[in-house]
Amino acid sequence: MTVPAPASLVFETCTPATYDEFLEFAAQCNSDRKTQYCLHVDETAVGIKNDLVQYEVDPFKTWFGARSTNSGKLLSVVGFEVNEASATGWIHGPWVSYDVADPNNVIRRWTFDQAVAALPVMNIIRTYYDMRSQDVLEALKVMGFTPADKMSFGMQMDAKDVRGVPCPALSPSAAAAAESFLVRQIKIDEKDDLAAVRALHGKTFKDPLHEFKEDSVIWNFGVYRKTPDSDATTPPPASALVGYACVRGQGDMPTCYIAFLGIEEAERGKGLGRLLLATIRKWFAEEETTQLDQMTLTVDADNLRAKGIYLETGFKEICTGVGPLGERDKLKPLTADEVAEAFKKAETL
Ligand SMILES: CC(C)(COP(=O)(O)OP(=O)(O)OC[C@H]1O[C@@H](n2cnc3c(N)ncnc32)[C@H](O)[C@@H]1OP(=O)(O)O)[C@@H](O)C(=O)NCCC(=O)NCCS
Repeated sequence: MTVPAPASLVFETCTPATYDEFLEFAAQCNSDRKTQYCLHVDETAVGIKNDLVQYEVDPFKTWFGARSTNSGKLLSVVGFEVNEASATGWIHGPWVSYDVADPNNVIRRWTFDQAVAALPVMNIIRTYYDMRSQDVLEALKVMGFTPADKMSFGMQMDAKDVRGVPCPALSPSAAAAAESFLVRQIKIDEKDDLAAVRALHGKTFKDPLHEFKEDSVIWNFGVYRKTPDSDATTPPPASALVGYACVRGQGDMPTCYIAFLGIEEAERGKGLGRLLLATIRKWFAEEETTQLDQMTLTVDADNLRAKGIYLETGFKEICTGVGPLGERDKLKPLTADEVAEAFKKAETL
C-alpha cells in the first residue's frame, strides 16, 4: 500500500521522549467533548488511559501520530497492538483533536494509512466501535473495514457499589462446588502454579491475541480441586488446578480488568465459574490496600454463559461493541485528491 505524504503533515512513531504527549493527547480525547473529538464515543479519559498506559513498556504496542509541520502540534494519534505471530493487529483510535474536526476523516485516515504501511507484518486489523455510533461505522467502512460477526460487551463493576455490601449467596451449584474445590490467589513466586495457569490458558483461548503475560498480570486466582492433604495452611498442588483468572492492574490507575478467566472444559457447568467470580468480587470489595475503584472486562456477545455469571456477580454492561475486521488487501488508502485535502487542511493547523 503506498500512501502519499502531504508536506504539512509529518508521520511519526511514538518514542519514550514523546510518550507523555501521546498519552495525554489520547486520554484527553473524551475528557472534554468540546475540545476533542474521538472515534470511540463512550470512552472516558480514564478508560483511554487504562487501555494505553502500558504502551510505553509493551513492545507489541505502538503509537503513531501525525504532526503539523506548521505548528508542531500533534493532530492525530492511533494506537496499534500487533501480534507478529498471527499477523493480527488491534487499533485504538485514530483520534484527532477538535481543532482538526476532520469531518471526512482525512487526517485520521492518513495517520491510519501511514501506520498500516509502517507495519508490513499485519494482515488483519480489528477495532471496536460503539453500535450507537453509525457515523463511526460508516467511516470504518470507507476505510475498508467490514463488520465481523462477533460482537462483544464491555462490563464494569464499581467498588462503591460492592464495598460494604454483602456478597450475594452462592448459587446451589457453586455452594456444592465449594465442598470439593477452593479458590485462592496465586503469588508471583509460585512458579509451578503459574505454569499450570499458563497451560490451562493455552487450552482455553486459541486466539493468539489473547496472550498470557506473567509480568503484566498483577493478581492471579486459581481454582483447585481439594486433595486429601490440603487444608487451610497447605494449598492443593499445582496439578490440582482446574480454573484460573488473571486480573490486571493498570499502572498507577485505580482500576483493573479481568484479562482472562476459564475453567477446565471437563469441569464446566458445575458452579466453579461462579465460585471463582464470587471470590474475585469479595477480593475487589474488601481490597483496601490497592484502592481499586473499578474492575472491567469484555465478553463476546455469544458467550451467554460467561455474560450471565458476570451480570449475577454484579458487573453492569457499559458498552456494546462490534469488532470489524480490516483485511490488508481490502483496505482502501486515501486517494491523491483526499491527501491533497489533508495537506490543505494541515496548512492551517
Ligand atoms: C465461562 C466459564 C468460565 C463459566 O464457568 P462454569 O464453571 O462453566 O460456570 P458455572 O457452572 O459456575 O455457571 C454457569 C451457569 O451458566 C449457565 N449457562 C450455561 N450455558 C448458558 C447459556 N448459553 N446461556 C445462559 N446461561 C448458561 C449454566 O446453566 C450455569 O448456571 P446453573 O449453575 O444455574 O445451571 C466457563 O464456561 C469457561 O471456561 N468458558 C471458556 C472460557 C471463557 O469463555 N471465559 C470467559 C471469557 S470472558
